Amino acid sequence: MFDGRHNCIVVVGAQWGDEGKGKLVDVLAEQADMVVRYQGGANAGHTVVVGDRQFVLHQIPSGILHGGARCVVGNGVVLDPETFFAELAELATQGIEISGRLFVSDRAHVVLPYHKLLDQASEKQQQIGTTGRGIGPAYEDKIGRRGVRVTDLCRGTGAREFLEPRVERANAMLKLLGSPQAASLDEHVELFGRLGDKLRPLATDTGLLVHQALKSSQRVLMEGAQGALLDVDHGTYPFVTSSNTTAGGAAVGAGVGPTAINGVLGVVKAYTTRVGNGPLPTEAQGDLQKQLRDLGGEFGATTGRPRRCGWFDATVVRYSARVNGLTGLAVTKLDVLDTFAEIPVCTGYRLDGRECAEFPSDIEALDRVEPIYEVMAGWQKGTGSATKLSDLAPAARKYLDRLEELSGEPIKYVSVGTRRDQIIEV
Ligand code: IMP
Repeated sequence: MFDGRHNCIVVVGAQWGDEGKGKLVDVLAEQADMVVRYQGGANAGHTVVVGDRQFVLHQIPSGILHGGARCVVGNGVVLDPETFFAELAELATQGIEISGRLFVSDRAHVVLPYHKLLDQASEKQQQIGTTGRGIGPAYEDKIGRRGVRVTDLCRGTGAREFLEPRVERANAMLKLLGSPQAASLDEHVELFGRLGDKLRPLATDTGLLVHQALKSSQRVLMEGAQGALLDVDHGTYPFVTSSNTTAGGAAVGAGVGPTAINGVLGVVKAYTTRVGNGPLPTEAQGDLQKQLRDLGGEFGATTGRPRRCGWFDATVVRYSARVNGLTGLAVTKLDVLDTFAEIPVCTGYRLDGRECAEFPSDIEALDRVEPIYEVMAGWQKGTGSATKLSDLAPAARKYLDRLEELSGEPIKYVSVGTRRDQIIEV
């Protein structure tokens, strides 16, 4: 994707998240000078397998696994400082050196313990199926202009005065939501004291760093979290996360203008999964769902929840291509389909008896749509050792060709296993 004309590439999930973005970012980071996370927070779980070691990164860009890349946690992220430092400590035990190459935006908002209590309390009423990491309440506070930013955490003075009205408000909200729990002001003041000093050396105007990198023709990779169908504007609202997961969010969340971006890679699984509640038109039934889940190891990297599994949905990916402005696709986990004799692909929807070309905005309509399936022949042959397209069985190539045709976007990568080297560049 990177070449003389393309030096700022965004990698986004083009379904409901968990598409394997971590692996693609890891592969592209090899050619990047800088990797930027631009939205979401500890709700994400990016799994990268290097040799026989597996890394699950929640808030730190997957690019950290490449010594050459500088990594940025952008202003659009909601940072959970406690788990951020736990993640850093874990990387240190694995011998990953971050010194001088990890930066956190001083404008990023912070997730505090009261956000997690609020998330759990509102989840009892709304039942979105959130990760419980305090993401929604932290973004609510940001938009409500009462949030806490990294710069506040790092100030070093006046923590109690700053936090008191916020903790009080959170406790009033918890009461309103019927929660028996209350946040402790002392605990929050202690957290500020303990983590502010640790965060200060990493906190900076990261938008400026990204701008300078682009100005000097460095290669910048922007790493999205979750997927387009979880975008707060474009997803299956209200069953979404609370940030803009689509490529437009990359400019805002990294602190650069939209004209800086010159490539958008949409990552899709060769089938579809979602975790949490809300519509999933191509959800497989009974044993087939279990088979997909077991073969794909479809359990959440953050919460361990079983993922809901189904077939590739071209209506979703076409929509995703439009709202993200995709310039290419990466198809992951093709190997998971290796044993199926037949593989259904959803080419469109029927809604109330009529064909429906676009992805509906109405959640009730989405619950009613009937997927139109085309059944493709399986290849029933291992794909895990393929290093080029011609190594794949004809039926597997046909399957990929059909996904490309239905999605309207060129396939640039095909991933055929969890290892770093199990990837085909098209
Ligand atoms: P939240 O982001 O924790 O508020 O959760 C909102 C919705 O997004 C829920 O359905 C979650 O399961 C889903 N979600 C959040 N993060 C991820 C992710 O990294 N992968 C897949 N789904 C996610």
